[in-house]
Amino acid sequence: MKQRILIVDDEQNARDALKTIFTEEGYEVAEAGDGEAGLAALSSFKPDAVLCDIRMPKMDGLQLLEKAKQEGHGAVFVMVTAFGSIETAVQAMKAGAEDYVTKPIDVTAVLARIEKVLEKRALRQENELLRERLREKYKFSNIVGESPELQGVFDVVVRAAPTRATILVLGESGTGKELIAQAVHESSPRREKPFVKVNCAALTESLLESELFGHEKGSFTGATGRREGRFELANGGTLFLDELGEISPALQVKLLRVLQQQEFERVGGTQTIKVDVRVVAATNRDLEAEVKAGRFREDLFYRLNVVTVTLPPLRKRKSDIPALVQHFLERYGSMHGKQMKGLAPGVLNVLLAYDWPGNVRELGNVIERAVVLARGSELTSDDLPTAMRGPRPSDRSSDALIPGASLYDIEREAILRTLDLVGGSTSRAADLLGISVRKIQYRLKEYAEADNAAAQKHVN
Ligand SMILES: Nc1ncnc2c1ncn2[C@@H]1O[C@H](COP(=O)(O)OP(=O)(O)OP(=O)(O)O)[C@@H](O)[C@H]1O
Ligand SMILES: [Mg+2]
Repeated sequence: MKQRILIVDDEQNARDALKTIFTEEGYEVAEAGDGEAGLAALSSFKPDAVLCDIRMPKMDGLQLLEKAKQEGHGAVFVMVTAFGSIETAVQAMKAGAEDYVTKPIDVTAVLARIEKVLEKRALRQENELLRERLREKYKFSNIVGESPELQGVFDVVVRAAPTRATILVLGESGTGKELIAQAVHESSPRREKPFVKVNCAALTESLLESELFGHEKGSFTGATGRREGRFELANGGTLFLDELGEISPALQVKLLRVLQQQEFERVGGTQTIKVDVRVVAATNRDLEAEVKAGRFREDLFYRLNVVTVTLPPLRKRKSDIPALVQHFLERYGSMHGKQMKGLAPGVLNVLLAYDWPGNVRELGNVIERAVVLARGSELTSDDLPTAMRGPRPSDRSSDALIPGASLYDIEREAILRTLDLVGGSTSRAADLLGISVRKIQYRLKEYAEADNAAAQKHVN
């Protein structure tokens, strides 16, 4: 596509000369004889670059430049100044011009300048586009799930992310708390600044303190130099405090102060350091219960709890399972060089029937393992862990029992349900099932023994 140049100059001769040259060089050219006409041409012609004289009647070049920036036209400006008026040139650059040339115009130089600024502009646009795409992609597309529960979470994230509000992310292990923290950062105005993560459970109290706030040289044995803490590193950005429920009472006090005043001192230091940090905290503990039990400061809890996002366990939003399975099949398929088409019949039912105590992380692990083991391009129930396929005797009401259950369990289910149906009559049940009364009685004894044993185990 041809690049468009708008030439704004009050001298007809100059315009004509420039127009001829740029047209010859393959540009599409429009011209205007003063600032006002130039402004109109910006809207109608939509140039990529403007070669703009400064001294002109009606509206001069600087005014045109300013108006163009105000109105958000994307064209780059190269200004034409009278020889020796360097001040005007500087003024123009400050107002957002990309470059300038002096009169009398050197045609070759002008062509080269224009070409260069257009190249720069294209690069900028490309970068912007890439960043935009990355942002879009990162935003939520790696958080999979369409359940109303998860949509509710997204809704809170979208509304709270642009603010400075502290966000508390709650949920069992593996529900995606860290993903949410990243999403908050990525959809906030701080996205270009650091996202810093601290796992509060991974360090001892004193190490965690210096990790968070930094330390001065010699503040403790081994502190050979000054070190900046994570709060300083996260300045302007977001600090993710993972497993926050684990921090000691003394650190809770310090944390409260930073959250309230955005200031602190390094360990062993006296200088007060100011920071601008947005905090997202996560825990799989029930913080309210911790507060009641006196292990977590109430004031800190309220300070953190400005906005709370609770990620429901996977078993409470099983409608997310199919999309998550698809997501993990693609991810691990390409990671392990296997083109996965999908699941063999019945496998999804096994996945839906399972309880997922390890939540999405466990599902991801199960799918990764299955992808690695799969012989073909479909996952079969053979590729799932035996425990998942194994008997689930307690699950009596499940209609999805058959795929993945043992024949023993299916028989048990059939016998018990048929007995229910016929009001407990073993002879009628035997008729319906096509087995002997003795077999039913024998099985019932077995079931009772097994249940007793299970109950016994439970008590111990
Ligand atoms: N909705 C989701 N879509 C895609 N991947 C997810 C989703 N939720 C979680 N995951 C994946 O599951 C794994 C666990 O998620 P994450 O680390 O965010 O959990 P967590 O709640 O922080 O767990 P923990 O409390 O154990 O630290 C990660 O690999 C993450 O990418
Ligand atoms: Mg985590």
